[in-house]
Amino acid sequence: MATLKVVVILPTYNERDNIGIMIDALEVQAREFLHDMHLLVVDDDSPDGTAEVVRAKQTVYPNVHLLRGKKAGLGAAYIRGMIHAMDELHADVVFEMDADFSHKPEDVPRLMAALDGGADFVIGSRYVKGGSIPQEWGFLRRMNSLGGNIVARYVAGMYRIRDCTAGFRAIKTNLLRKIIFDDLRVQGYAFQVALLHKAVSLGAVIKEVPVDFVDRAKGESKLGISDIIEFILNAWWIRLHSSKTFIKFAIVGLSGVIVNLGVFTLLLQANVNKYLASPISIEISIITNFLLNNYWTFRWRTSQDHIRVKGLKFNMVSLVSLGVSYSTFVVLSVLFPDVSPEIHQLVGIAPAMFINYFLNSYWTFKN
Ligand code: GDD
Repeated sequence: MATLKVVVILPTYNERDNIGIMIDALEVQAREFLHDMHLLVVDDDSPDGTAEVVRAKQTVYPNVHLLRGKKAGLGAAYIRGMIHAMDELHADVVFEMDADFSHKPEDVPRLMAALDGGADFVIGSRYVKGGSIPQEWGFLRRMNSLGGNIVARYVAGMYRIRDCTAGFRAIKTNLLRKIIFDDLRVQGYAFQVALLHKAVSLGAVIKEVPVDFVDRAKGESKLGISDIIEFILNAWWIRLHSSKTFIKFAIVGLSGVIVNLGVFTLLLQANVNKYLASPISIEISIITNFLLNNYWTFRWRTSQDHIRVKGLKFNMVSLVSLGVSYSTFVVLSVLFPDVSPEIHQLVGIAPAMFINYFLNSYWTFKN
């Protein structure tokens, strides 16, 4: 096996208390490592003196590199680091790794072994069998991590990958060189999903290796609300730009809104009681939506289910969306009796459409 140049990128912002011992721990791994390991600290002008700690380590270890720049987010730091690793350090492989011991240095050889085994992109995964998240994570942090992965898997469409947001990765640079970083259009933590999505669309061999994610002992997470907003927008951007299915579904949904409101208005004009007119028009729009989705939107799906089974599943989903839409309508009618019933009906359609899409897409018409 040829010896590869492996550059472990460690992004840092105010990691003075972690970076020195992290470098020491990685140097221990480097001694037994089967390849040529280098460490690249990408520090965003941390005011706490992180860079001084790294410079002191550079006098001891010749394989430690430091790249400094203005703070522009985790993704921006990784992009700078990856370009530097490829163009200046001529890396064959780069690692993404937190500098705060959330990722264990002793796991580096395991990720590298998966790359040596033929993968192009290895993920240190918390959500495959054998991996874990910290016991001490509170409800919000768990929900944040789980929710992020659900959004990445089901909105950005990477269903088969269990840990799309992981920040511990090994990537071959001949894959990275095919990626135009400007196209990713992300600055913060959304980078993880944007990069992974590019790798998936390029047909890269992706492998998940289980790891235990450790809660940092020193310093604090830099994840902010703007990162979360960028993350969600990015996932939907990917969805809109990569999936004709979603666009078709949106068109069908719009036609359903027109059918729903049209039938509802006609029924009101025919003096049908509004509480009866509402479910009738919802049901009719669900039926037209189903027919269009079945024969157009999801036509290419390879579900082996018989049409009768699909029909049955569809009806169950319809019942759920009917219930959601109708209860929203009733609640709004009681809460806001002065607002026109058409508005109540319209607002009731939104959650029903959302549920319809997800259940039908991932259950009724699954691949
Ligand atoms: N240079 C630079 N610039 N480094 C940054 C920045 C930045 O703007 N923001 C964060 N970092 C560095 C931190 O100093 C740390 O070394 C690493 O990036 C991870 O930052 P944390 O703020 O500790 O991340 P986290 O624990 O919330 O998130 C981790 O888990 C997420 C999934 O749950 C990271 O691994 C994320 O990449 C991952 O998505």
